[in-house]
Amino acid sequence: MLQSIRWENGAVYILDQRLLPEKIEYIKCTHYEEIAQAIENLSIRGAPAIGIAAAYAVAVASIGLKSSSAKKFLSDLNPVFQRVINTRPTAVNIKWAVDRIKNLIEKNASLSVSELKDLIINEALKIHEEDIQTNKRIGENALHLFKEGCTVITYCNAGALATGGYGTATAPMYLAKENGIKFKVIACETRPVLQGARITAFELMKAGIDVTLICDNTAGALLRKGMIDFAIVGTDRTVRNGDVANKIGTYSLAVLCRENNVPFYVAAPSSSIDLSIPSGDMIPIEQRAPEEVTTIKGVRVAPEGIKVINLAFDVTPADYITAIITEKGIFKPDQLRFNL
Ligand code: MRU
Repeated sequence: MLQSIRWENGAVYILDQRLLPEKIEYIKCTHYEEIAQAIENLSIRGAPAIGIAAAYAVAVASIGLKSSSAKKFLSDLNPVFQRVINTRPTAVNIKWAVDRIKNLIEKNASLSVSELKDLIINEALKIHEEDIQTNKRIGENALHLFKEGCTVITYCNAGALATGGYGTATAPMYLAKENGIKFKVIACETRPVLQGARITAFELMKAGIDVTLICDNTAGALLRKGMIDFAIVGTDRTVRNGDVANKIGTYSLAVLCRENNVPFYVAAPSSSIDLSIPSGDMIPIEQRAPEEVTTIKGVRVAPEGIKVINLAFDVTPADYITAIITEKGIFKPDQLRFNL
């Protein structure tokens, strides 16, 4: 399985997902700014993966600091925290990872700066490793949904490459495959930047999983024909009332599933759950450059000067969600907050 990101001798290697599926190239980052830019330009993407990248960015930045005390060290890191938090607003994983490191430094303020640096590097590695274990548990908790011969639809890429490993929505797919269960996956291409076509199709094919690619607007027709048994998608931020922010178009797919009585599941690790926000209306939604819509792989497909709305995410109300699959179990959206 390809790794989205890895730490090696004080440097961070990021798989440049903008080049997939044609090229497999890693970007070596030794400065936090390079990691921040890789998050912004989607070289690394997917909520858990960018949370891990944020933790590594802080680790990389901390190595170069010559702060005279733990207090000064924390204040020297403040611009780094801010820079990485500001890269992409919707996925809560970035703030979750940064807060985790910040709290750790505060709790260990009696340590030397060099001890704190080691602590941060270990914490970043731990965040990465925990994500892999979390995804495996999500896979185990959702495995029973995979009945012999079933067909599941997914959206965007909530796969191994969107995480530290295994993926969230894809974890039960990898496990079902390991267990010899026969199933099919329908991957939606996911305009505008085609994470479904370029990344989900690529990683599932590589794993020998039976995957078929469709245009986003084909989903309704297949659901109506009864060709899909259930949906599993990922999330960038799931909030207190069970509303789910995920890649733009997730809401449309959820409405189509409801219309056709097809269960709609969301795979959500705790790192993507934000209980501080009561409802989905309050989730900040990233808006990205119009060129993502007016061009495909650098080729213009719309007239110069056209007005564009390019929301990167939408919110699916809890009411459309059958259940949320976490590493701690599967819960109805309105029960999620009592079970974390
Ligand atoms: O813009 P992206 O590619 O970062 O969006 C990714 C998604 O919407 C994923 O579904 C989500 O981050 C969950 S990844 C396990």
